[in-house]
Amino acid sequence: MKALRYLGYAVSILVLIAMAGAAFIHFDGIPSYTPHPPVLKVQGDSAMIAEGKRLATMVCNNCHMAQNGKLEGKEMLDLPTMFGKVYTANITQHPQFGISTYTDGELAYFLRTGVKRDGQYVPPWMPKFVHLSDYDLNSIIAYLRSDAPELQPSEAVHPKPQPTFLAKFLSHTAFKPLPFPTAPIPEPDKSNKVAFGKYLATGKVECFGCHSASFETMDLMEPEKTVGYFGGGNAMPNLEGEIILTRNLTPDKETGIGNWTEAQFMETVRFGKRPNGQQTRYPMPPYAAMTEEEASAIWAYLQTIPPIKNKIE
Ligand code: HEC
Ligand code: HEC
Repeated sequence: MKALRYLGYAVSILVLIAMAGAAFIHFDGIPSYTPHPPVLKVQGDSAMIAEGKRLATMVCNNCHMAQNGKLEGKEMLDLPTMFGKVYTANITQHPQFGISTYTDGELAYFLRTGVKRDGQYVPPWMPKFVHLSDYDLNSIIAYLRSDAPELQPSEAVHPKPQPTFLAKFLSHTAFKPLPFPTAPIPEPDKSNKVAFGKYLATGKVECFGCHSASFETMDLMEPEKTVGYFGGGNAMPNLEGEIILTRNLTPDKETGIGNWTEAQFMETVRFGKRPNGQQTRYPMPPYAAMTEEEASAIWAYLQTIPPIKNKIE
């Protein structure tokens, strides 16, 4: 019977530890880390600013642009409720409510790793740009500093994120800041169409996160190791809270886009017009700012990935 009593003690201790752990996570919230921003001063010329602006329309504005056309942040209505209530940040040049106090190095560090200048880590409700070339990253920074009207100071202030216990728990276990690259990231070789398409689909515009099985099993460091890579099926809420499943973009003939033509693909991606005449629905953005050359390169890359049989209704 002694053994049983000891077992009882052991279980109580384990329960206490688990409760203390849960309480710790609850009160600690989303963790902070010490940022190590690089020394960086972006010398942006007009070509870089224009490229940064174009890139922002494809990868930032969807989340950060408010009704009034300014990048002053808003409530993220499409965040699954199991993660909580979150507002995107005011990224205009306001000294107090925007981001003009960030140095270029701090911005680069945040965009790559997810750690803000004050150390606060931002969970996957904002993407991280790990594979973006230094030139493209610097273009975004040059743009954020530019005199574009949508970035002029706005006083919009939003409530702090209200993460659920699940979001906090995952931020203590699964979600971690990404490593800051230790070597420069060169521009992709545009003459190699497949490589350029891969860069666009996994680094610059990042189609693969939405278009694979789930954000929870996405491998940001090595995108091709993502579960169900480009096989679709990721369940995403639209702004009304309805679930829209992402599509299978692998070259499978029955369930993917194996029977599409390149022209149909380009029309769908750039203008949201599918071959059957239906518009693509939110959250699939029409990438109007994408060039034909880019859409064609993504198509070329998608032809080279393993087909996955996954019928999306
Ligand atoms: C899927 C939505 C989403 C996208 C896309 C996105 N962001 Fe964010 N961003 C957020 C959210 C949400 C926050 C606030 C996070 C928080 O407070 O925890 C944020 C925070 C930030 C911050 C931190 C501001 C501060 O106050 O410290 C900066 C800077 C930023 N975003 C810039 C960008 C840029 C530049 C892009 C495009 C390259 C971008 N974001 C794309 C959702 C997004
Ligand atoms: C924010 C998530 C998201 C991102 C990023 C995204 N997509 Fe989509 N995509 C979707 C969703 C959701 C659908 C389904 C829309 C619908 O059913 O109306 C879709 C549909 C499509 C379709 C239509 C397929 C079909 O069978 O009708 C194509 C093609 C496509 N996306 C290509 C791309 C490419 C290429 C990229 C990157 C440049 C990309 N998507 C980025 C969410 C996304």
